[in-house]
Amino acid sequence: MRDIRVGIIGFGTVGAGVVDCLLTNGELIANRTDMRPVVTRIADMDITTDRGVAVDPTLLTTDADAVVGADDIDVVVELVGGTTTAKTFILRALANGKPVVTANKALLADCGDEIFAAAEVSSADVYYEASVAGGIPIIKAMREGLVGNRITEIVGILNGTCNYILTRMEQESTSFDEVLGQAQAAGYAETPPDLDIDGIDTAHKATILASLAYGEWFGMEPLYVEGIRGLALRDIQYAANLGYRVKLLAVIKQCGADVQIRVHPTLIPHGSSLSHVHGVNNAVWVQGTPVGGTMYYGPGAGRDATASAVVADIVDVGLNLKFGSHRRVPAFRAHQGCAGVVPMADVETRYYLRLQVRNRAGVLAQIAGVLGESSISIASVHQQEIHGETAPLVILTYEAREANMQHAPVEIRELQVVSEDPVLIRIEDMP
Ligand code: HSE
Repeated sequence: MRDIRVGIIGFGTVGAGVVDCLLTNGELIANRTDMRPVVTRIADMDITTDRGVAVDPTLLTTDADAVVGADDIDVVVELVGGTTTAKTFILRALANGKPVVTANKALLADCGDEIFAAAEVSSADVYYEASVAGGIPIIKAMREGLVGNRITEIVGILNGTCNYILTRMEQESTSFDEVLGQAQAAGYAETPPDLDIDGIDTAHKATILASLAYGEWFGMEPLYVEGIRGLALRDIQYAANLGYRVKLLAVIKQCGADVQIRVHPTLIPHGSSLSHVHGVNNAVWVQGTPVGGTMYYGPGAGRDATASAVVADIVDVGLNLKFGSHRRVPAFRAHQGCAGVVPMADVETRYYLRLQVRNRAGVLAQIAGVLGESSISIASVHQQEIHGETAPLVILTYEAREANMQHAPVEIRELQVVSEDPVLIRIEDMP
């Protein structure tokens, strides 16, 4: 039985979860793999707070360099988060020839190419299962399970906090602000919650998945990102009446030689697989050739889900070291070479358009006229009888070009018959 000596940097919630998992299931892992992960050092700025796990105090240090360069450590686990010191620790560990396990999606999204280049030079492994979709082994699925496929589409619910908020808004008819406040009070949502609710966290994960699928490390710059901040409860309710649920989706689609990578609130049909993903769970739909459609589901956030993914990576690294097969699965290899990311203005999709209209003759004709002039074809129109001064008018469109769809509501807003800013939400008719 060989030991794999683990050094952890960052002893917060996830770090404690990883130690807990290794203590609780270490024997099971050893029995399964004939290799025993042993934590030999843990670095954190704060080594006095009780993390709720029985760890030998002599393992604790405030000196992260005592982890990245130590002779008695086989794998460095970076759980600091952020894009500054975490990057320094990872690059130092790689420079010392140490394999790295990280959960840091923001760092990979921003600087993945630099980190992978350093790994190439050092010939050390970089594993990052916990960076996308928490406990779902989606990176392993993409890098290994689906390696024989051309990926045509990935659609994911990749942020547990947003999915929790949307689920509660729909199920309890509660406003966005109210649910967010409760989620923060219960410790589900970060304070400030911006990275989650503005879609940035989803975008970090989307760019990692797109890069693995299409062989180019895209970074964040070419992505279109829109979050759920300010999403109105009534749009969730109108969508429900029309047979749709609103989810924050990452949509990655091959379009000829190019790829779409976008993050935004989306109407999906009630019957679709992703519409049944509730609460903090994540799910990823991946369509490939020849496999067809595949779906991955599970807890997308939290201590234990993330720890599960980190421990799986530690075991992979350990087995690679044991059999002398490091870099057996490359962290990332540029391969297919996409021509580019489709500019959002050129994306074609369906739309939900909600207008608040006055009770006047010719309202529909005026609005239909603007849409028609913008080559936007109406699929259905929904309006109840207007009893007061104004009422909502909901229009679902057939596929239209985003640039047209952005322009038409601006013109519509100028009509005297429209009393509020139009609301536009994209639709994905997925299985
Ligand atoms: N904040 C993330 C979420 C978890 O709510 O899904 C870490 O990526």
